Amino acid sequence: MTPEHSRDLEGRVGVVTGAGRGIGREIARSLAAEGMSLLLLARTGSQVRDLADELIAACGVKVLPAAVDVTDADAVARVVQHAEQQLGTVDLLVNNAATIESREVPFWEGDAEEMWRVVETNLRGPLLMTRALLPPMVQRGHGHVVNLTSRARAATATGTYTGYAVSKRALSALTQSLVGPLAGTGVVVLDVLPGLVKTEMTLGMPVWTTRDDVPWDDVGATARLVADIARGRYDDRAGEVLEAPALAAS
Ligand SMILES: NC(=O)c1ccc[n+]([C@@H]2O[C@H](COP(=O)([O-])OP(=O)(O)OC[C@H]3O[C@@H](n4cnc5c(N)ncnc54)[C@H](OP(=O)(O)O)[C@@H]3O)[C@@H](O)[C@H]2O)c1
Repeated sequence: MTPEHSRDLEGRVGVVTGAGRGIGREIARSLAAEGMSLLLLARTGSQVRDLADELIAACGVKVLPAAVDVTDADAVARVVQHAEQQLGTVDLLVNNAATIESREVPFWEGDAEEMWRVVETNLRGPLLMTRALLPPMVQRGHGHVVNLTSRARAATATGTYTGYAVSKRALSALTQSLVGPLAGTGVVVLDVLPGLVKTEMTLGMPVWTTRDDVPWDDVGATARLVADIARGRYDDRAGEVLEAPALAAS
């Protein structure tokens, strides 16, 4: 960071789910570089702890790492309360944690229990996190909720990953359902599309790994977009789907 770099989000508090690797880790790095204090969640404690150590050293911000499964209502309630006590009222929630089916097979060959676990992570997780964090945002008249959504292109192209496709459409429906009730409260909810980013998730998908011409997008576009949302740059676009690569190119 250069000395003249302004830290626009200094003193603000953010929560990033699925921050241990991939897109969530880059979003957390971008927010910490702007001075934001952070709660970082993932099930793999070592990954969020390592990231917290890195961000505290590099950015001088407060960072709490926690090994939490976002589908666990009690654990979510406890960690949100802990974060509010340690960091203050939360200004930004980034619902990034997600998973996808382990096999690229048609619905009728898939494991129904695994599909349901995907839906739980990708929908119940954001629902619990948002339910826990919205009340103080509404009370204060300020806040942002960002849902990492997807066009589920792989699911459409291959006729597979049904749980993932269903969960991401439902997540966008959750975003839409909040726009009306949140109008005039000062709290803004938005969907963000990261494009196609090389991560553990996509590197586990044969539809991408069997090709050598995949048009990967830059994860930095999504990380910068989420920081801009936290700054209020897109407050007039509540409920919209913001495509990170397209906005970065414009
Ligand atoms: N990569 C892409 O091209 C792409 C495209 C469109 C949308 N997206 C969306 O972008 C987001 C990030 O994707 P990614 O590619 O970065 O995925 P990733 O590399 O697989 O990372 C997912 C993160 O979520 C965490 N996570 C998974 N299940 C969890 C749970 N139950 N509770 C808490 N944390 C959990 C993982 O950690 P643990 O396993 O340790 O819990 C990990 O930190 C997702 O919402 C995804 O749907 C990605």
